[in-house]
Amino acid sequence: MSKTYEFINVHEQDGVGFVELNRPKVLNAINRVMVSEILNAFEVFDQNDEVRVIMLTGKGRAFAAGADIDEMAGDGAIDFELLNQFADWDRIAVVKKPIIGAIQGFALGGGLELALCCDLLFAADDAEIGFPEVNLGVMPGAGGTQRLTKLIGKTKAMEWLFTGERMKAEEACQLGIINRVVSREVLMEETERMARKLAEKPPLSLRLIKESVLKAMDYPLYEGMQYERKNFYLLFASEDQKEGMNAFIEKRKPNFKGK
Ligand code: CAA
Repeated sequence: MSKTYEFINVHEQDGVGFVELNRPKVLNAINRVMVSEILNAFEVFDQNDEVRVIMLTGKGRAFAAGADIDEMAGDGAIDFELLNQFADWDRIAVVKKPIIGAIQGFALGGGLELALCCDLLFAADDAEIGFPEVNLGVMPGAGGTQRLTKLIGKTKAMEWLFTGERMKAEEACQLGIINRVVSREVLMEETERMARKLAEKPPLSLRLIKESVLKAMDYPLYEGMQYERKNFYLLFASEDQKEGMNAFIEKRKPNFKGK
């Protein structure tokens, strides 16, 4: 991909699309242009058949320390309404391909909300996550109260959101917010290893699994089951279903094409 951005770095390799937040001097504070750039990069990767998995990282000592407070400080409610501030965030949440995030250092506020838009999260053992918005006289606005509560339940979510305290990676892992904690030295390598592993899976299966799991966050069980079933049926219209099952029967490695 040749497109260049102001606040992110992007490249693709071996089926993985890489997006790196690139404002290290301000701990990758997320301004509005950065959100649009992340969305654009994700959507371009989503449409690129060469890319099967997206990996999201932050440059420097943090993943992202939140929305850009300098940018937001002077805003009023009507500015947000007219800007439709979170429209890009809504589109990030419906990217079809799997997104794997790697967190080192801080993932705070909007940075954690961005991380929670990922499907899998790996973190360095020095990572700290949290929602400090309460200390600024505000609250999360890009899904934090909703996604955290769905992940860890009301009781614990309320405490973390009320106090604004930072949670260590290990606890976040125990609570099911993070998939894996590894040492800082191997974070990128381990995350990439997982991305490459998924890049070999049938893309349509990944796509419809992602869609179905995300529906489980919104739908009652019965409706979710109906949704899952249709996606299961749909995969039987794919060449990769034939390839996967024939390869099993013929005792060979499948070659998935994403069709
Ligand atoms: N916005 C703008 N700039 C930020 C920032 C943010 N969210 N977080 C850090 N920075 C800047 C700092 O101002 C500082 O810039 P200067 O060198 O120009 O002074 C630089 O990044 C380095 O930060 P610190 O010197 O503060 O580094 P530290 O290691 O001492 O502390 C920290 C790190 C605890 C993360 C601290 O920077 C901090 O508390 N940041 C703010 C965290 C926060 O409140 N995030 C929530 C934002 S609101 C939000 O995200 C709303 C939403 O839901 C959409």
